[in-house]
Amino acid sequence: MKLKKHQIANRDAWQGFAARYVKPAEEGWASDNPRWGIWNIPDSDIDLLPKNLTGKRCIEIGCGAGYVSSWMARRGAKSVVGIDPTPNQLATATRLEAQYQLGVGFVEGFGESLPFDDACFDFAISEYGASLWADPYQWIPEAARVLRPGGGLVFMTNHAFAICCVPDQDDEDAPLAEQLQRPYLGLYQNQWEFSSNEVEFHLPHGEWIALLAANEFAVERLLELGAPTADAGSNYAWADAAWATKWPTEEVWCARRL
Ligand SMILES: C[S@@+](CC[C@H](N)C(=O)[O-])C[C@H]1O[C@@H](n2cnc3c(N)ncnc32)[C@H](O)[C@@H]1O
Repeated sequence: MKLKKHQIANRDAWQGFAARYVKPAEEGWASDNPRWGIWNIPDSDIDLLPKNLTGKRCIEIGCGAGYVSSWMARRGAKSVVGIDPTPNQLATATRLEAQYQLGVGFVEGFGESLPFDDACFDFAISEYGASLWADPYQWIPEAARVLRPGGGLVFMTNHAFAICCVPDQDDEDAPLAEQLQRPYLGLYQNQWEFSSNEVEFHLPHGEWIALLAANEFAVERLLELGAPTADAGSNYAWADAAWATKWPTEEVWCARRL
């Protein structure tokens, strides 16, 4: 299949970003206690991963260096596959799998065209992977196709409020503004002033619900996450904890395939 412009641009960008993500990946693989997103929120607070995945076939879509996949393997999954288009990310993932030997398989590919049979997974997850970097109008139908009826889908990405409040300037570390900086309606593909060619995807909440429903998913939960405290730390300079005690920086959609 011919790749879209955004797929080539995002893979090229992630070839460069990958080195920055080695250390967090090593910490993630070393831990039995999943922590999520910008604020490292413990899984025990938000329950994104089923506690027991025994016998389940799991996929991480846009797995990067694969620490979420390692957590699913540790929770007893029968099989875990991580898919990602970026060779440098997969190199870290396969090195860490060789070290920990949890039995996670890694495949090079895009969320928009999953090289798997229909209904072959019980659970799918994406933490800032396909959920941010793949076209939702292509990866959600693919997730629906590869999940069996009753299978679960969980994905985490930036909250639409945060996206609407990113200052329009050439500084990726600039803190979020307290005024809206761009329209919410029509949110879809986004290229920041400070980025090179990479493209992010965000949707208004009504669009996510319509897209999930059109692909036979029932939405079970929408978590809107901010900073736990006004002095909470994060690895991202733009993520201002004082801002994030008033508005959410992250959203997590939990849906079930009908
Ligand atoms: C932030 S990482 C996500 C992995 C991990 N959860 C993390 O936070 O480090 C983003 C990943 O999305 C991947 N990605 C980019 N375009 C993608 C696409 N079209 N489909 C699936 N993944 C994609 C990148 O290669 C990158 O490894």
